[in-house]
Amino acid sequence: MTQHTPGTAVAATGLRKSYGDHVVLDGVDLDIPAGTVFSLLGPNGAGKTTVVKILSTLIGADGGRASVLGHDVATESEAVRAAIGVTGQYSAVDGLLTGRENLMLMARLHRLGRTDAKRRAAELLERFDLVEAAGRPAATYSGGMRRRLDLAMTLVGRPRLIFLDEPTTGLDPRSRRDMWQITRDLVADGVTVFLTTQYLEEADQLADRIAVLDHGSIVAQGTAAELKRRVPGSHVRLRFTEAPSLESAARVLGGEADTEALTLKVPGNGGVASLRELLGRLDTESILPEELSVQTPDLDDVFLALTGHRSADDNARKANR
Ligand SMILES: Nc1ncnc2c1ncn2[C@@H]1O[C@H](COP(=O)(O)OP(=O)(O)OP(=O)(O)O)[C@@H](O)[C@H]1O
Ligand SMILES: [Mg+2]
Repeated sequence: MTQHTPGTAVAATGLRKSYGDHVVLDGVDLDIPAGTVFSLLGPNGAGKTTVVKILSTLIGADGGRASVLGHDVATESEAVRAAIGVTGQYSAVDGLLTGRENLMLMARLHRLGRTDAKRRAAELLERFDLVEAAGRPAATYSGGMRRRLDLAMTLVGRPRLIFLDEPTTGLDPRSRRDMWQITRDLVADGVTVFLTTQYLEEADQLADRIAVLDHGSIVAQGTAAELKRRVPGSHVRLRFTEAPSLESAARVLGGEADTEALTLKVPGNGGVASLRELLGRLDTESILPEELSVQTPDLDDVFLALTGHRSADDNARKANR
C-alpha cells in the first residue's frame, strides 16, 4: 500500500446534532492527522456513534462542517464513502452466508472481478485467521470471529481511513488483544484509524490522540500522557534507608514525609524534565534515595476528574442526572 503524504484525515468544526429537544452533539471540533489512531472516548450515550455516523455520511449534522480525507461530508459524500471503511457497533455480517461468501459479496459490491474477488477474499481470510471457518455460516462464529470477519469485509475496498466503532466491546481479553494487533497492523500500512471506545485502556494502548466526549461535548483532548498529567495527583515517591536522609530530602524538596515507611511523596507532573530537576537537587545535597517511583494517575482518574463520573459507571451517572 502506498503511503500518502501526511495531511489531515478528519477536520470538523462545531458539529451539532439533536433529536427533538435532545441535544446529542453540542459543537464538536476534531482535527485528526492522517496515518494516526484517534480515539473518541466516552460512556454510553455520549454521542460517539453519532459522530461516526456524521463523518461516514450515514446521517447529516444539524450544524457545523466536516471533511474527511479532503472531502466535505455534506456535499461530497460519494467521495468520502469511497475512501473510508466503517465497522459499526452493529455488524454488517450476514449470518446465513459463510465467511467466504460474505467477503465475496463485499468484493463484488466493490466491483472486483471474479478472480480478483476470490483472491482478495482468500487473502483476508488468511490475514484474519478465518481460513478454517471460511465455509461455515457466519451465524456459527464466535463474537471475536464475527468482529474479525466484519473488519475483513471493511478492508475489501482498501480504505484509507477506517472507523472502528467500539470494536472490542463484549470481547474476551484474547480477542481484544487480537483486535488491537490488527489495528496496529492497519496503521503500519498507513491507514488512519478513528476508534471509539468506552475502555480507557484501549485508548491508552492504541491511540496517538484521545478526545474525551461527554454529553455531546469534547471535555479534553491530548495524548494519554498529556491527559494523565492534567489531573492532580501525580507524584514521585522516594524511599530511604534511614531517617536523616529522609529529613534532608524533605527539607530540600518539601512534600509529604512518612517517617515510619521512610518515604517522601513529592507532588510533580511525572514528566522527565521535572524528574531530572528533582534528582539534580538531591544530587547537589548528596542525598541518595534507596528507591524512586513515579506514580501517575491512570485514565480512569482523568475521566473522573474531567467528567465528574467514572467511565464505566453509567448507571451511577444516569442516577445523578
Ligand atoms: N435516531 C435517534 N433518535 C433519537 N435519539 C437518538 C438517535 N440516535 C441516537 N440517539 C441518542 O443520542 C445519544 C447518543 O447516542 P450515540 O449512539 O451516539 O452514543 P454512543 O456514545 O455511541 O453510546 P454507546 O457507547 O452506547 O454506543 C443517546 O442518548 C441516544 O439515545
Ligand atoms: Mg455507540
